[in-house]
Amino acid sequence: LRQTTPVRYDETRGCWDIFRYEDVHRILKDPATFSSKRSLERGNTVTILTMDPPRHSQMRALVNKAFTPKMVNDLAPRIESITSELLAAVQGKGQMDMVHDLATPLPVIIIAELLGVPAEDRQLFKEWSDALVKGSADSSAEAFERVMMEKDKATKELGAYFAKIIGQRRSQPKDDLISVLLSAEIEGEKLSDEEILGFSILLLAAGNETTTNLITNSVRRLTEDLALQQQLRNDPTQIKNFIEEALRFYPPIQAVSRIATEDIQIGGKQIMAGEQVVNWVASANRDEAQFTDPNTFIIDRKPNNHLSFGFGIHFCLGAPLARLEGLHAIRAILERLQDIQLAPEANLEFIESPFVYGVKAFPI
Ligand code: HEM
Repeated sequence: LRQTTPVRYDETRGCWDIFRYEDVHRILKDPATFSSKRSLERGNTVTILTMDPPRHSQMRALVNKAFTPKMVNDLAPRIESITSELLAAVQGKGQMDMVHDLATPLPVIIIAELLGVPAEDRQLFKEWSDALVKGSADSSAEAFERVMMEKDKATKELGAYFAKIIGQRRSQPKDDLISVLLSAEIEGEKLSDEEILGFSILLLAAGNETTTNLITNSVRRLTEDLALQQQLRNDPTQIKNFIEEALRFYPPIQAVSRIATEDIQIGGKQIMAGEQVVNWVASANRDEAQFTDPNTFIIDRKPNNHLSFGFGIHFCLGAPLARLEGLHAIRAILERLQDIQLAPEANLEFIESPFVYGVKAFPI
């Protein structure tokens, strides 16, 4: 597709697909011409993800204040101890499911702790965040309606839950993200309760399944290339680079979408104002015009400017956290588990979504 139809209109879906690195990069760099605003689907709240400047710049500056590198780095010991606990629970059994036993609970626990919600509500969080990101493989109207109703329900329940916590933190601040968000201020502007609520929900929706898939996709790579697994065991300082290359090779988010605000030419094709443009990060990451030997996994690829966290003003806010979780998870897995292999009877099933890349279970 990159060679033959790098920019194409899909009649069935009624949108443009962009496959080349250069074009995806150019579009993400230009939020004035390619807006992130969506028509407000049911179940979707307005968050920074779907805002344009100037509102996006103000809100992003406010949440950046709460989501600082220091705050993320301070989480390192917690990430380590949770990873150890989760692995200790399955140690000695000879087999585990990477998705269920480690890659799913780790990000949920971390985000719950970050926001300051009690550990006993973890399972609720998992259910709510699953419902929020759920797509339907079945394109019938009934299936769509069912998924939308589940999203509505999860958003309402989460809303009520967070409203209570926000109220509590307003009267009695603690050392957590919600308390920091309540006090964050830029040029006299503060976040409203509704904005804090929307942001908290965004963190769950944006940060959980993506990180789960980063960890599982990375472990999958280790089982596909046993020499690579040995190389990392011999030199764990390479794990950081390995995570970057795993992000490029198996991106948890395959594409990000924009709406053209004016008529514009991309790759010789005329895109009209109001049309949807789907930017295929997964294809851009394998573009031979950008990466040497794009289909080869090269741990210390330099430069490795993949687009898996997006690019430009919407660049993933949680990237440092996701990278840290990936690093600690892979390090602990290699330390604790010898000779990791995919279970012989395993039949890998992929998550049914064109935008999410990962497997439902990964028994090792
Ligand atoms: C934005 C991917 C983890 C929070 C994005 C975008 C991508 C992305 C591609 C840009 C979307 C766009 O341009 O429309 C990923 C991947 C992750 C990950 C692959 C894991 C490997 C996280 C985590 C959090 C998070 C752990 C928070 C705890 C956000 C937020 C935005 C965002 C808040 C919106 C930023 C903005 O609009 O200014 N992410 N993400 N993400 N991500 Fe992530």
